[in-house]
Amino acid sequence: MDEINTNKSRLLAEAEAFVRAELAGESSDHDFGHIARVRRLAEVIAREEGADAFLCALAALLHDIADPKIAGDEESGLTKVRAWLAAHGADDIHAGTTERVMEIIATMSFRGGTRPPMTSPEGRIVQDADRLDAIGAVGIARAFAYGGAHSRPLYDAEVASRGAMTYEEYRSGNTPTINHFYEKLLLLKDRMNTPYARRLAEERHRFIETFLAQFYAEQAGEA
Ligand code: NI
Repeated sequence: MDEINTNKSRLLAEAEAFVRAELAGESSDHDFGHIARVRRLAEVIAREEGADAFLCALAALLHDIADPKIAGDEESGLTKVRAWLAAHGADDIHAGTTERVMEIIATMSFRGGTRPPMTSPEGRIVQDADRLDAIGAVGIARAFAYGGAHSRPLYDAEVASRGAMTYEEYRSGNTPTINHFYEKLLLLKDRMNTPYARRLAEERHRFIETFLAQFYAEQAGEA
């Protein structure tokens, strides 16, 4: 048992080093800080929900490697993760680890059309942790970091929120960052999979609403 835990800790440390190197130079909305927060949160939710915390941590560490924003295309990103897991003996530590992690990452990086639902509790938890990192104080900071990196204005009263859009429209648009709150951030609390994440999401959602109220008051010169 001790040896298994030692091996799990070693694999997580190796995964962390791999991901740090892969994400070097990524902009601050998708840097290693995001990965570290998603991992910590996924481990907390796993304990609350009685899921496999090791699997959650490993999948959380690797979850953005196959993201098209980072890998270029999803297929080569997934191949890279699978090769990494094989080279580091993931299945020797616990049989089936590679398939379970790959299933989670493939589902998370899926683009276009409707994303397939997560089939494992660990997948639902990592997805929750990733979505939680897009809301609350950190979510607000990440949204403006992304907007700044893409030269988007903070706010423009003339640009109404566009509502539903494709992923490509979202990536290529030049709309103000505040619009992104209505297009994505404020929708996330209703998309949580697990009860514990839903509670955290509600707190973070309220924080965004408070932020927006103050933001508009300041725009109007009323605060
Ligand atoms: Ni992510």
